[in-house]
Amino acid sequence: MLEIFITATDTDAGKTYVATSLVHAFVSKGKQVAVYKPISAGCQKINSVLVNEDAQLLEIAANCQQSICDINPIAFEAAIAPHIAAQQCQKIITIAEIQKYYQKVKALEADIVVTEGAGGWRLPLGDGLFLSDFVKQTKQKVILVVNMKLGCLNHAVLTYQSIISDGLECIGWVANCIEKMPYLEENISELESLLPMPKLASLSFEKDKQVTAKQFDLSTLL
Ligand SMILES: Nc1ncnc2c1ncn2[C@@H]1O[C@H](COP(=O)(O)OP(=O)(O)OP(=O)(O)O)[C@@H](O)[C@H]1O
Ligand SMILES: [Mg+2]
Repeated sequence: MLEIFITATDTDAGKTYVATSLVHAFVSKGKQVAVYKPISAGCQKINSVLVNEDAQLLEIAANCQQSICDINPIAFEAAIAPHIAAQQCQKIITIAEIQKYYQKVKALEADIVVTEGAGGWRLPLGDGLFLSDFVKQTKQKVILVVNMKLGCLNHAVLTYQSIISDGLECIGWVANCIEKMPYLEENISELESLLPMPKLASLSFEKDKQVTAKQFDLSTLL
């Protein structure tokens, strides 16, 4: 089972967009793909269930008939830092809980599990814990989404260095080019020389994720 964790240089960088497009790409290759979004903050209450949009998009892309609650077990209504949202509801987020629900996803025995992080790599959970501690425990392979904009070189290199100093493998990165960035090609080239893992795709703005799905180089992943 290939276990992939999608992180990014920042929040809103394109993690869900890349995760769902990648899931489409794997499904189109005939793979069984399960998804996981352990923590979300920014949900709508529907029939007393907190529903997060990222989880809904992941559910649509994947093909393992998972419920929204199984995909996203820890959900907060307010769109704020999750550890603050947890404090506001007198809840403690533990790695054990994130692990417990992850094991349920793994029990589906899909070919691939794609997990979307929240925020960037060092997302605090409170009590000195980070979401990256869960990735460390589970030794997932990490894909880094870089939101190509001024300042992204620093964020990308720092994130990559944190991932490898956590003893994890970063199996690829994605240049997500949705903003007008001066010297975009030069910035992508610089990242290609700074980051040793393969660039899986250079994505421009595209609404149709099936089109985007075709742009990934999956040769090093499958
Ligand atoms: N290449 C792209 N083409 C078109 N739209 C995109 C692209 N990349 C991202 N977007 C859009 O930009 C917005 C932010 O992207 P996305 O939700 O994937 O970020 P995120 O990193 O998952 O954010 P969060 O930290 O909130 O989970 C979304 O509306 C998404 O559909
Ligand atoms: Mg997201």
